[in-house]
Amino acid sequence: MTRLRLGVLVSGRGSNLQALIDAAADPAFPAEMAIVVSNVADAPALDRARQAGIATCTLPHRDFASRADFDAAVDRALAEAGVGLVCLAGFMRLLTPGFVDRWHDRMVNIHPSLLPAFKGLHPQQQALDAGVRVSGCTVHFVRNAMDAGPIIVQAVVAVLPHDSADILADRILAAEHAAYPLAVRLIAEGRVRVEAERVVVEGADWSAGPLLLPRT
Ligand code: GAR
Repeated sequence: MTRLRLGVLVSGRGSNLQALIDAAADPAFPAEMAIVVSNVADAPALDRARQAGIATCTLPHRDFASRADFDAAVDRALAEAGVGLVCLAGFMRLLTPGFVDRWHDRMVNIHPSLLPAFKGLHPQQQALDAGVRVSGCTVHFVRNAMDAGPIIVQAVVAVLPHDSADILADRILAAEHAAYPLAVRLIAEGRVRVEAERVVVEGADWSAGPLLLPRT
């Protein structure tokens, strides 16, 4: 089995990176870690990568004259590592249209809301402010618009009456750690295709009852 080579872009804590590292540690997982690229030199995510023996590349964005120069350096690092799929995992930089187009349908992102709701910053607080009963996370292909693109996987969690944004974020994060490896596995198995900007998944089980909240 040839495994899909992953390039993970990070800026911070790296818990989603860890979920991918853990998934890829299973030889039966159809993707492997090729490189972790960070724009933040002291990102804890880089330690996680080093600990797992994965190649890392640090590119502090301030060292570059323009966004295009920075993105070109990222692109070079990914190409040299033979990356087949780019995974944004808490990568807090907007990417230039040229870079996004170059990785069309080969770059995915995870966002802690049920997109298209609550794009941008503080999506957990946005969910609390809206009074929704459920929220979750979304893994999607990246397009040239913030937190937009064909949806691959979503996971749903309850929003509880006394949730703070931090508590809700933790509950969503646990769902992220399941959703991201699932999305990567589906792509690596060749079961995902984009048709008219919607994702079709081959051979998936869609059975699920309604999740009614609140229950009495
Ligand atoms: C995650 O919750 C991820 O969904 C979010 O940043 C966090 C990174 O955590 N990403 C975004 O909000 C992107 N719009 P991690 O570094 O522990 O994976």
